[in-house]
Amino acid sequence: MTPLTSDYALEIVDLNKAFGGLKVTQSVSLAIRRGERRLIIGPNGAGKTTLFNQISGDMRPNSGQIRLFGTDVTTFAPYKRAHLGLSRTYQIITLFTGDTLEHNVTLGLLGLLPSRWQMWRPLSFYGDLAGEARRTLDTVGLLHLANHPVSEIAYGEKRRVELAMALAQKPRVLLLDEPLAGLSNTERSTVKSLIASIPRETAVIMIEHDMDTALDLAETVTLLNYGRVIVDGERDVVIADERTREVYLGS
Ligand SMILES: Nc1ncnc2c1ncn2[C@@H]1O[C@H](COP(=O)(O)OP(=O)(O)OP(=O)(O)O)[C@@H](O)[C@H]1O
Ligand SMILES: [Mg+2]
Repeated sequence: MTPLTSDYALEIVDLNKAFGGLKVTQSVSLAIRRGERRLIIGPNGAGKTTLFNQISGDMRPNSGQIRLFGTDVTTFAPYKRAHLGLSRTYQIITLFTGDTLEHNVTLGLLGLLPSRWQMWRPLSFYGDLAGEARRTLDTVGLLHLANHPVSEIAYGEKRRVELAMALAQKPRVLLLDEPLAGLSNTERSTVKSLIASIPRETAVIMIEHDMDTALDLAETVTLLNYGRVIVDGERDVVIADERTREVYLGS
């Protein structure tokens, strides 16, 4: 195994993924530095979530390579990537609605929620599990709702629970799939501050359509269209690029 010496948190080399004849990821190469704040943009169906699924290991690419801190993880199961410091949230909320927030977070920490088995950690990682679940809720200002069922809380609060569970892993690379989607203005500014408060050593890669909010958080931007990287680089340069306006801003 390659030693963990890379300057990059995440490197993607010539990644390809097709569903039948539909090429969803096409020769995608990306390099994300340690602690970088990267925004991924692109129209619906551009392949953004599919790219995340391949990075997290929820989906296998057809070809190409994914490296985390210099280690080739292309064939690693999701939980092994989590051990190297990768964590993610999902575009679609995956909490048990009839269960309390505290119980959901506990299950999440144990890797027992649907689509969350990659969150598995040895129990010793958490020590007091209930205490950890409550601390996790406290970090996102939801401790007072710990004993409420998920079905009773607002959508924006569910989003914060998801974010809290991803952060509880103390990730070195965090993938956020549309963390601001469907939020009210107030909820959006709460979640935005939460994202802004993520420790600087954590690289954050965020898919988001709400550019007004997301651009503030980004240092670099990647524009995807039809599964290809169209423009990639410093935020202001990508936003000013004519191809970005053509593809994404529609002008
Ligand atoms: N499991 C799958 N099987 C077949 N096709 C799929 C599968 N997952 C995604 N696709 C297709 O791949 C394309 C890209 O989907 P993806 O979800 O990655 O887009 P996206 O950029 O995240 O879009 P959005 O902004 O709407 O979330 C779409 O055409 C989608 O229908
Ligand atoms: Mg998506």
